[in-house]
Amino acid sequence: MAKAWGGRFQHETDPRVERFTESISVDRRLAPYDIRGSQAHARMLATVGLISDDERDSIVAALDEIGREIERGEFQFRTELEDIHMHIESALIERIGDAGRKLHTGRSRNDQVATDLKLFVREAIDRIDGLLADLQRAFVERADRDREMILPGYTHLQRAQPVLAAHYWLAYCEKFDRDRGRLSDCRRRANVSPLGAAALAGTSLPIDRAYTAELLGFDQTAANSLDVSSDRDFLVEFAFCLSLIAVHLSGWAEEWILWFSTEFGFLRLPDAYTTGSSIMPQKRNPDVLELIRGKTARAIAAVGQLLVLLKGLPLAYNRDLQEDKPPLFDAYDTVVSCLELAPAIVAGAELVEERIAQRLDEGFLDATALMEYLIQRGVPMRSAHEIVGRLVADCESKGCRLADLSLDELQAACDRIGEDVKDVLGTSNAVRVLTSYGSGGSGPVAEQLERWREKLS
Ligand code: ARG
Repeated sequence: MAKAWGGRFQHETDPRVERFTESISVDRRLAPYDIRGSQAHARMLATVGLISDDERDSIVAALDEIGREIERGEFQFRTELEDIHMHIESALIERIGDAGRKLHTGRSRNDQVATDLKLFVREAIDRIDGLLADLQRAFVERADRDREMILPGYTHLQRAQPVLAAHYWLAYCEKFDRDRGRLSDCRRRANVSPLGAAALAGTSLPIDRAYTAELLGFDQTAANSLDVSSDRDFLVEFAFCLSLIAVHLSGWAEEWILWFSTEFGFLRLPDAYTTGSSIMPQKRNPDVLELIRGKTARAIAAVGQLLVLLKGLPLAYNRDLQEDKPPLFDAYDTVVSCLELAPAIVAGAELVEERIAQRLDEGFLDATALMEYLIQRGVPMRSAHEIVGRLVADCESKGCRLADLSLDELQAACDRIGEDVKDVLGTSNAVRVLTSYGSGGSGPVAEQLERWREKLS
């Protein structure tokens, strides 16, 4: 088959080279974006008089038809045609002849592929944003459902201070909200049109780049053809956004894997989201959570792969850039697959309240509340810390809780302690006294919940 670029060549391409250089196996996925970009380009060419209105109409209609064929899986892809751009152009020429031969006027595959990728990323960002909103809603619903429940809060995975379960759920809302913010920032920078930058230098033809930008919903037209025809910063940014989402999911998954263990016993997972063992009949494994944790590797790797790909590339387009698609698509598909499952797991899991409540007395979760009680009675913070530390050691040797100490014992440690100390001892008191902005007590948590409900409604 004759190559679109075959004019100056005398001999055929080695078939191994065709297989080595093809990208159609990967970039066929860009077909809908390529078609949209080409239709906008044809409309612009007609407006500036580079093609006739009839030619525009037949190009637009034939592209629609080709698009439908690809969608239905009826389109024949062939390695010799290299990439999606060549496939669509050659199918167009096959169908409408000379009008099709005019489509590539004033553009190159370099600005074309950059345009396709930007349209793809824009849609991908919107999809991920919607999935993140669904996940946030799942967390907010849990916060509502587990409103009264208290959880041990950890640092270093050691029991630290108690918080309301709702506070815990809403912590994840915050993380995923920052992810949404990062995506919208990434979208703003990605939404700049490369189309018409042509190969690298622009063109002598009277094209109207602002018009194609507008038709394709770009906010701006890129101001430097040399830069934009080879810029892939937006892919690195997007991959980073994806990898941080994956890292947030992974931390959550790890936490729940621990909570699901016999050692913790904090969590029940629905059968639908666990799997069994082929040899140990009693097993129920949190495989889905483990894979959410494991698949994070792909998203993180994509950032590295893209950065290494770009490192050391001179301006402008280099064929290396064709290697941008596998990590991009893989990271995106991976994160989508995790986000599609996560809300159902969040909604379907049960915190095992009896077991959690039963063990809230362990680990001196009220020690900080007692220390702050002393501070409020004028004891310097460092001294209060020391006094409570000694009381904890005392309890540990007796095998009791702070709340089990008698008033005499407490007053022997510090004479500022009064009867009212009982109002801060015990886990539920230790939560009740948390009142600072953003803290895990009931007042501030109710405020958070209200804010999230409003934001996500
Ligand atoms: N398949 C190529 C890619 O994905 C399209 C651009 C090819 N441009 C070129 N000058 N060979 O990067």
